[in-house]
Amino acid sequence: MSQHIKHDVLIIGSGAAGLTAALNLPSELKVAVISKGDFANGSTYWAQGGVAAVLDEADSVDAHLDDTLIAGAGLCDPDAVRFTIENSSKAIHWLIQQGVPFTPTDNIDDSSFNFHLTREGGHSFRRIIHAADATGAAIFKTLLEQVKQRSNIQLLDNQVALDLITSNKLKRSGNQCLGAYILNLKTQQVDTHAARFTVLATGGAAKVYLYTSNPDGASGDGIAMAWRAGCQVGNLEFNQFHPTCLYHPQAKNFLISEALRGEGALLRLPNGEPFMQRFDPRLELAPRDIVARAIDHEMKRLGIDCVYLDISHKPADFIKSHFPTIYQRCLDFSIDITRQAIPVVPAAHYTCGGVKVDQHGLTNINNLYAIGETSFTGLHGANRLASNSLLECIVYGQSSAAHISQTFEASSMPEQLPTWDASQVTDSDEDVIIAHNWDELRRFMWNYVGIVRTDKRLLRALHRIELLLAEIHEFYSNYKVSRDLIELRNLAQVAELIIRCAIERKESRGLHFTLDHPETKTQAIDTVLTPGVNGQSVKIRANA
Ligand code: FAD
Ligand code: SIN
Repeated sequence: MSQHIKHDVLIIGSGAAGLTAALNLPSELKVAVISKGDFANGSTYWAQGGVAAVLDEADSVDAHLDDTLIAGAGLCDPDAVRFTIENSSKAIHWLIQQGVPFTPTDNIDDSSFNFHLTREGGHSFRRIIHAADATGAAIFKTLLEQVKQRSNIQLLDNQVALDLITSNKLKRSGNQCLGAYILNLKTQQVDTHAARFTVLATGGAAKVYLYTSNPDGASGDGIAMAWRAGCQVGNLEFNQFHPTCLYHPQAKNFLISEALRGEGALLRLPNGEPFMQRFDPRLELAPRDIVARAIDHEMKRLGIDCVYLDISHKPADFIKSHFPTIYQRCLDFSIDITRQAIPVVPAAHYTCGGVKVDQHGLTNINNLYAIGETSFTGLHGANRLASNSLLECIVYGQSSAAHISQTFEASSMPEQLPTWDASQVTDSDEDVIIAHNWDELRRFMWNYVGIVRTDKRLLRALHRIELLLAEIHEFYSNYKVSRDLIELRNLAQVAELIIRCAIERKESRGLHFTLDHPETKTQAIDTVLTPGVNGQSVKIRANA
């Protein structure tokens, strides 16, 4: 039997953003945090390098702000950037208070701050606080432990949100989110979750590409659900490719942190020659879009499968203590990084755009918030600065919780919501189609909507996604939902939005590089799409 469940606040996602929001809500509120797999399902658990923040007395908000604006290639929203960075120190001190075991400084006398700060591409200062090379796991485990101590927060795993329930869909008055339909993988029933407030903290959509650093669940569910519910989305053409993922046939999705380059690692061709000097004066520490394109260029020019990242000139003890996870993982594949260079390739890593929100994480639908990687706050512009993502998760996790607390009194529990209707669907006898469609989609997105784009490739991709969407829609209408089907439907929806955003942008800027429009226009304009007539994406705003 499917259930009807009521919450004050329903948080969909148990990564850094979702857990932060939950912990910052008043303890009188009845909060649920759900995850579609186990709680460590998202990208947060895998984050390596750290969190960028203004922590050293010699650093400044303006310096971090300038670095973020430069990486963002003129497209960041300066207010969002200032808001995030002004709150960065408070966010880190909150994490320290929760008990996150950040790496202490090497030399206490030399520092105004007790924790080691590393450097990454695009940063003019050492400002990345980290827990060795497994910062995300340290943050995730600490916050999850804290959540478990809170009797008002219910943790629900193996629950896949499949659609938001809104007053518009139910033809009720107001423009309000009322909760969500959630597939309980333990009972195989779709439950109805009513909530005064719903928070999407579902992470990014990098799984839309064949090669990615992200875990399997990064299928853009929150972006697709929000779009179907009537939310604006924006800047989805800016897909960040991390320059250095381990290239090895058995290594699925393993990232080699940018912090290695921050600590002096060099990129080399197979003959040992460094090459970044031919692309950017900042060499290995140029922003990610530039380094990823340089590697892509060299791989295509020379017809090679990978390039190499070499940190072997550093003392072995330094490497092992700063990068224990990477050292061990590479050793598992017989690569001793204290003596050998690491084979690396770029892979899809981060979704810079997403659901359009304000400084509280509020969408254009009342009582619906989007935070973390699923959101488009304006912080990242056309290219995210390294380690600004976890920062955004914490800052907006806190600001959304504060806004919910302020507006709670004026809210009310939604009236009885309809049960999910599964009367028209049967069990599928052709699940293999789902796997085929996943594969086809991720392959053409990699080939046609990847690091280097052209008008023709984008139109080819649009044509293919339209066919796939029609097939998936038919499948979805006739067969019972499963996690794979829900994710495929969302991934295809987000792929369509990415392609439409990319087609709209007739210039090259940041992560969006097209051979047909190589110049950067003088005016920087966001691509904002709104669910329009006949489900077509319509551009509605130009932001000077
Ligand atoms: P996630 O941590 O991705 O969590 C998403 C949650 O949503 C999960 O709990 C998932 O189960 C749940 N979910 C999704 N869909 C549904 C659904 N339909 N129903 C129910 N639940 C759902 N950023 C940095 O700033 N610094 C770094 O050093 C860094 N390193 C990185 C290294 C790697 C390998 C990767 C992949 C990313 C890295 N990033 C880093 C990026 C950063 O980790 C992510 O952007 C950030 O963790 C996203 O957090 P989140 O809370 O938004 O989502
Ligand atoms: C890394 O450690 O290189 C990832 C940092 C990030 O994605 O911000």
